[in-house]
Amino acid sequence: MTGPGRRPLALAAALLLVAGCAAPATVPDDPPAPSAAAHGEGITAAASATSPIPVAATRPPVAPPSDPIGPGDGAVARPVPTRPPLLLAPDPATAAAESGPRPLPRCRYADQPALGDPATDWATIVLDTIYRLPADYVPERLVSTSRAGMQSGYEVIPEVLDDLEALHQASIRADAEVAVRWAYRSYAEQEGVFAMWSAEAGRERALRISARPGHSEHQLGTGLDFRSADSLTPPWEYEDWGKTDPGAWMRENSWRYGFVLSFPRGLEEETCYDYEPWHFRYVGREIAAAIHASGVSPRRYLWETYAAVAGPGGR
Ligand code: DAL
Ligand code: ZN
Repeated sequence: MTGPGRRPLALAAALLLVAGCAAPATVPDDPPAPSAAAHGEGITAAASATSPIPVAATRPPVAPPSDPIGPGDGAVARPVPTRPPLLLAPDPATAAAESGPRPLPRCRYADQPALGDPATDWATIVLDTIYRLPADYVPERLVSTSRAGMQSGYEVIPEVLDDLEALHQASIRADAEVAVRWAYRSYAEQEGVFAMWSAEAGRERALRISARPGHSEHQLGTGLDFRSADSLTPPWEYEDWGKTDPGAWMRENSWRYGFVLSFPRGLEEETCYDYEPWHFRYVGREIAAAIHASGVSPRRYLWETYAAVAGPGGR
């Protein structure tokens, strides 16, 4: 079940259930044609970096999830990470032409092929608002998250399973149990998500909260959205899911199990997306520990460690 046109029923059901870094209530038949902005012609990411907008106040309402689990969440305030100084290229084209290490490209929208092979470089490949996967890229193997002792209905690449199970068990021991809210998304599913957000909130807003098709870590089979196991409420409907017990536990501990928070609060100028306390990417324990220790965003760490020197096609 690995072709791009697979499981239309799963797609339709999933899109009925989720939003945010998640899914629309309906899937548009004809997603909007890419504009000049989508091809990186002169658009710079919105300057919301220094004052993140509360998710609950800015995202359109979404359909309730169907998971039959009772309500409830804790509210634990935790300190937010401080932002390290940025090293942003004044002009990406100029930076690319320079020899030696290249600084992190500033936020802009383009459709350049990702640097590396997603099948083998899934832990290190940079996917952002510039670099994208091919539309027909589907991981060779996808397995149900039920194999990690979590819900069925979501898929990841097999490499994620053991650490996902360990993370889940640790969250239970910490009395902060998490559940999966969404995992793998195909290019077509992401197309539906982005089109929905564009229709609901406008394209400019959609660009801050949803990856354009091809640009999402969910397409790698390593991006996961988590929610509280004891609540039906989707994490993006909280004012800040990161302040719940499961959300705070994830922020503090996910790296121990190989998962990194892709879009931390305060690092929006690096990540190019709004803060998403529920969206994590699996990179393996070693790289996750290094990213955690670095204090920078996963995008910046991966770029500077794996992509900035090697350049196109390099590792
Ligand atoms: N919400 C994140 C950026 C995604 O759509 O992958
Ligand atoms: Zn997500």
